Amino acid sequence: MAGLIPQSFIDDLVARADIVEIINARVPLKRAGREYRACCPFHQEKTPSFWVSPIKQFYHCFGCGAHGTVLAFLMNYDRLPFVEAVEELAQRLGLEVPREQSGSPAPQAISDDLYTQMGKVATFYQEQLLATERAREYAKKRGLTREIATQFGIGYAPDSWNEVLKRFGASEESRQKLLETGLIIARDSGEGHYDRFRDRLMFPIRDARGRVIAFGGRVLDAGEPKYLNSPETPLFHKGRELYGLYEVRQNRAPLMRLMIVEGYMDVVRLHQSGITYAVATLGTATTPEHLKRAFRLVREIVFCFDGDKAGRAAAWRALNNALPEATAGRELKFLFLPDGEDPDSLVGKEGKEAFEARLAGALPLSEYLVQHLAGAIDISHADGKARFVAEARPLLERMPEGPYRELLLDRLAEAIGVSAERFLKIVGPMTTPDSSIPAPAQAPPRSPRTARSTGRGSLVRQAVQTLLHFPGTVARIPATEIEALGSLDEPGVEILVQLLEGVRQQPAASTAQLLERWRDHPAADRLGRLAAEASIVPDEAAALDELRTALRKLAQGAAAAELDALIAKESGNGLSPEERDRLRELLRRGPG
Ligand code: GTP
Ligand code: MN
Repeated sequence: MAGLIPQSFIDDLVARADIVEIINARVPLKRAGREYRACCPFHQEKTPSFWVSPIKQFYHCFGCGAHGTVLAFLMNYDRLPFVEAVEELAQRLGLEVPREQSGSPAPQAISDDLYTQMGKVATFYQEQLLATERAREYAKKRGLTREIATQFGIGYAPDSWNEVLKRFGASEESRQKLLETGLIIARDSGEGHYDRFRDRLMFPIRDARGRVIAFGGRVLDAGEPKYLNSPETPLFHKGRELYGLYEVRQNRAPLMRLMIVEGYMDVVRLHQSGITYAVATLGTATTPEHLKRAFRLVREIVFCFDGDKAGRAAAWRALNNALPEATAGRELKFLFLPDGEDPDSLVGKEGKEAFEARLAGALPLSEYLVQHLAGAIDISHADGKARFVAEARPLLERMPEGPYRELLLDRLAEAIGVSAERFLKIVGPMTTPDSSIPAPAQAPPRSPRTARSTGRGSLVRQAVQTLLHFPGTVARIPATEIEALGSLDEPGVEILVQLLEGVRQQPAASTAQLLERWRDHPAADRLGRLAAEASIVPDEAAALDELRTALRKLAQGAAAAELDALIAKESGNGLSPEERDRLRELLRRGPG
């Protein structure tokens, strides 16, 4: 694992980037006053309601509510995970992404040269496909169109032992790179090298940013092995990559789900038929790592397997690996195709609509699990029921605790005709997986709220919003005015104070910069929505005024609450000398 990207770098990155330029390169913007606008890329519309503010470095759509910083835009529009969005932006600005030295060993820097060379070889293979009659014929026979071949960068490795070696390995250095990426293999004799891929249809495997990191090659005719993949290399880790994910991300249509299929051909042909949410593992079982990646993009994943015995075995393995990722809010389904068909053949025969109609019949994970167990065990008698429970138990233990597991428990109990309580008794105490996902940071428990705090939410909210829109005002607020809020126990005050103190320590140049610092905070979403709302104050001066007024009113509330408490205590246990002084002080100040 690479170390974390330091927050200071992200801060710097967001400060240097220009959101208008980045968005304009993807969605042409028109100037409108101090802001820019366009038709929203995240929903269908005819009149533009998508706004980009160069001052806030923030975008917002009044139509669909999409909003965020330049990084959020890259994540949503280019469908990049956070780290890749940071890398993409950094590359545009010519910056190297630093990594914090964590406990894990420092990541090995991968030289850009390796990617560049892979890209050149991929282009060469593509040219070879166009130039080779036999390969073109094969692609055609498999039903591939020219467009889809171009979109997926499909190529052909010529029938030669050294074409790649000759063209791309002229120097010792370039040969070393070819070896590192697995494109050539050293001869057993120790002398010389030869091309790994010969006379094969070539499927480039791309990373999140579209760079070629590996290849899968299929023989044109009969031959062994049918598919040959790049080996594990510094660029390529099989258990992590999903074939087609980059191409999925390139589609602008809203992404509702991903479908995980088995083969390269399946992915390509599904996309060609308009099912543009298909990806494949690379000849391996689906790993939890694959699923983590997939669930970063969507809430629903459908596994699609051939109906034959091998397909069923693969499905059961996938289920086992999916259990740790079965958490609330996620959907995992299993679709089995008729025996003898794979997605490639079936979608070719019946087309998109009919194929998609099958999705309605996909089994939810719990259903598939119960069916599988019940199918293998005769549960009509007590022994069978006991075995059923014994088989279910390790599966349940692989799941994180939560509603998903509860539901499955209910379903399993139902299957053998006992109550959930009874089922739990039979199962006995279960261990929970030591989940690799850290539990979300819990906000510290809040002290019980006093009645007087109600109705002030809007004041705190207003202050937070003004601060988000005009972070520059914070530097001009005296520290005492922030400290005066300290004892106030009211929803959101904690966040307001943290925001104020944070920006005092480290000024933020824009709304976006501030939001990025809060990205991982449980309140990040709420802050984003507040930032997206139109500002009620027109400029910095008005904002300062507004903010100070809000802080003063809140402080008065804090003082009043303290006063109440002291008075109550005075009539009860009595006050300490310090408390007495404080009471006098507060009474002297009077209301307001
Ligand atoms: P076609 O026969 O071209 O339609 O291939 P397919 O995509 O239907 O492949 P199949 O169902 O036979 O296999 C599914 C996936 O398993 C392939 O896409 C490969 O990733 C992998 N695979 C299949 N055969 C081999 C093999 O011989 N070696 C390796 N390493 N992987 C294979
Ligand atoms: Mn096939």
